[in-house]
Amino acid sequence: MFNNQLYNKSYHDIELSNYSFLITGGAGFIGSNLVEYLLKYNAGHVRVLDNLSNGYFENIKDFIELPNFEFVEGDIRDLETCKRAVNGIDFISHQAALGSVPRSIADPITSNDVNVGGFLNIMVAASESKWLRKMVYAASSSTYGDSTDLPKVEGKEGRPLSPYAVTKLVNELYADVFSRVYGLNTIGLRYFNVFGPKQNPNNPYAAVIPIFCKHFIENTELIINGDGNTSRDFTFVENAVQANIKAMLNPVFENHEVMNVACGDQISLNEIIEMLSVMSQKEIKITYGSERPGDVKHSKASIYKIQNSINYSPVIKFTDGLGIVYNWYINKL
Ligand SMILES: NC(=O)c1ccc[n+]([C@@H]2O[C@H](COP(=O)([O-])OP(=O)(O)OC[C@H]3O[C@@H](n4cnc5c(N)ncnc54)[C@H](O)[C@@H]3O)[C@@H](O)[C@H]2O)c1
Repeated sequence: MFNNQLYNKSYHDIELSNYSFLITGGAGFIGSNLVEYLLKYNAGHVRVLDNLSNGYFENIKDFIELPNFEFVEGDIRDLETCKRAVNGIDFISHQAALGSVPRSIADPITSNDVNVGGFLNIMVAASESKWLRKMVYAASSSTYGDSTDLPKVEGKEGRPLSPYAVTKLVNELYADVFSRVYGLNTIGLRYFNVFGPKQNPNNPYAAVIPIFCKHFIENTELIINGDGNTSRDFTFVENAVQANIKAMLNPVFENHEVMNVACGDQISLNEIIEMLSVMSQKEIKITYGSERPGDVKHSKASIYKIQNSINYSPVIKFTDGLGIVYNWYINKL
């Protein structure tokens, strides 16, 4: 039921069995990993709200019989669904959204409906709850937009480069206003390219690491957008789960805060290819194409704020995470 390579270290120091959690988007990649952590450490109640538009029942099917797990198939674009999902919940981690820059360029209206309209519904439901203690939500490094500063520091953002980035920026603006107007305390976690088990490589908008692993496993030609020197602060999913757990359970913050979730490293696509070549003992054909619109060339986070405020530490390093996920894909593909 639980992946024995993940979550062997706990990131909380309170008894989780006393609390209930709502994970929106909990059938998706990051959400289902957070669900796995909470159930592994015996959380009192874990409710998932997901419409399975981009997530998979497969990601949570092992948990379905557990008495402390509940799956609600529903859409965050419906306010009443959100209110029912929030009812009786202590902590919310809001992960549901339509990810992917190219998807938002192809269909900005649906991205906005889900990422902004759905976010607002969850915020309204959360702010009306008499029970809720804290809400955490998935923000994004895309909010740094066209800023070329490295590392990326909270408070020094550029202009958004895609409709997706606009939606994530608007989330932060709403969260900030909700804290001041309605007293809803939230933390936005700006993820930097999260990767790990349960991330789908077959989706048309799949991320880089799942795609690369798939091509190495299947020995097929890999087409890279750009010259391969594009770099990102790739973050193993266990680190993102740690950030969620600490942000939800940490009592220090009031009002609204955003913080980077990353490793503070910079890894290029060509470096990943080299690592996968060594790991797989394979050479596959690589073709370099044109850069993708809406992408920044380099990204690397400052993790000073999250380290010093909620005691986050990126304990799983990139190469270890890549090894875990590569082996996971070997068994899945
Ligand atoms: N993966 C990353 O590197 C990354 C980086 C920055 C931000 N984020 C953000 O983190 C969150 C989780 O990302 P992920 O990679 O796990 O994506 P994911 O697509 O795997 O998970 C999102 C989940 O939300 C669900 N969902 C979508 N629309 C919905 C709706 N209308 N109602 C209910 N559920 C809905 C999907 O079915 C899916 O299960 C998202 O908000 C994403 O924008 C992710």
